[in-house]
Amino acid sequence: MNVVNIASDRRSLDMIDRFVLPEGMTVTATDGPCGFEIGGVDLADDLPGEVIGALMWVFYKSGFVILRGQDRLTPERQAEVTEWFGRTFVRGTMGDGVDKMATVSSTPVQILGSAAEDPDANVAAADADRGGELEPHSDVQDYAIPPAVTVLHGVEVVPTEAGGNTYFANLYQAYDELDTETKRRIEHLKWRPTSTLATAYRVGMKAAKESVAKNGLIDNSDVRHPVVRTHPVTRRKALWLSTFTEEICGLDDPDETEALTRKLKDHVVQDHLWQKHIWAPHDVLIWDNRCMNHWREGWDTSYRRTMHRSQANGSRPF
Ligand code: OGA
Ligand code: MN
Repeated sequence: MNVVNIASDRRSLDMIDRFVLPEGMTVTATDGPCGFEIGGVDLADDLPGEVIGALMWVFYKSGFVILRGQDRLTPERQAEVTEWFGRTFVRGTMGDGVDKMATVSSTPVQILGSAAEDPDANVAAADADRGGELEPHSDVQDYAIPPAVTVLHGVEVVPTEAGGNTYFANLYQAYDELDTETKRRIEHLKWRPTSTLATAYRVGMKAAKESVAKNGLIDNSDVRHPVVRTHPVTRRKALWLSTFTEEICGLDDPDETEALTRKLKDHVVQDHLWQKHIWAPHDVLIWDNRCMNHWREGWDTSYRRTMHRSQANGSRPF
C-alpha cells in the first residue's frame, strides 16, 4: 500500500487528510483552482476494483480528473470506463435527432473534430465541431436529463499556440462565493435553456441547419433547470448556470429577470474560477457536468484535432 499525504497540496482532499491509494497510483492537484491529475493508471488495463474506487473517489472530491498517456485506450474500452459513472448517454433523442453526432463504428463514442470530416470516416452523422470556440457550458444542458459525466480522449491534439485549450470551472466554488442574501434569493429558482434545435444550429450541425432552413429557428424549450443544483452524490450545491441559460424563470419583473440572469451568468465566468488544460496526445479528461463548467478555445484548423467523447447519463437535476 502506498500511503500518500495529499493534505500538503494547496487544495487537499478535505474528507480525510491521508488517503490510502492503491500501489502505484498517484494523485496531484493542478496548480489552479480545480482538477486533479491521476498517475499510474492505464485505463486500457483490466483494473482492480480498488483502483476504480480510488479514481471515482478523487473524481467526486474534485469534479475533474486528468489521466495522461492513455494511448492504448480503444473506443470500446472508453465506453466501458464511461459506464463506471452511469449508463450510456445517447444523443439525438431530442429535437427530432437534430443533434445526432458522428460515432466510432458501433460504439456510443462520439467523434469531435477532424476525423469526423475524413472521406473514409464512415460516420453516422455530420459532425459539428469545426474549430470554433465553445463558450462556457456544462454538457447538453438543453436536455431535461443531461449527461452526468463526460470522458474526453484527446486522440489528435494541436500545439497550444494553435488554440484548442480547454478550461474548467468549479461551480461549487461559484456557489460558495455568493453572498448570503443572493443564496437565499435564488434557492428555489429555475432557468430555461436554449432549445436543442437552437443549440445544434448555433454550433453548425448539419441536420439542425437543414431543419432551420425549412421551418425556421424555433427556440422555446420547455426544459426548466434549478439555478442551484444539488449534486446527488456529494450533496454539495453548485451554481449551475452557463451560456445555455436563456433566462431565469418565475420573477414578475422583466428588468429584474434580466439583471439577475446577467449577474449570475457573469459570476460563473470570473477568471479566478478557471483551470486551463493544455492538451498532450492521449490525455483523457473526465469531468462531472453536475458541478463543473468548461469552455474551449477555437483552434487553427490547418492542424488536426480529434476528440473521442463519451458520456454517462444522469438523473433529473434538483
Ligand atoms: C465537449 C467539449 C471540449 C474540447 O466535448 O463537451 O466541450 O476540448 N469539448 O473539445
Ligand atoms: Mn462540452
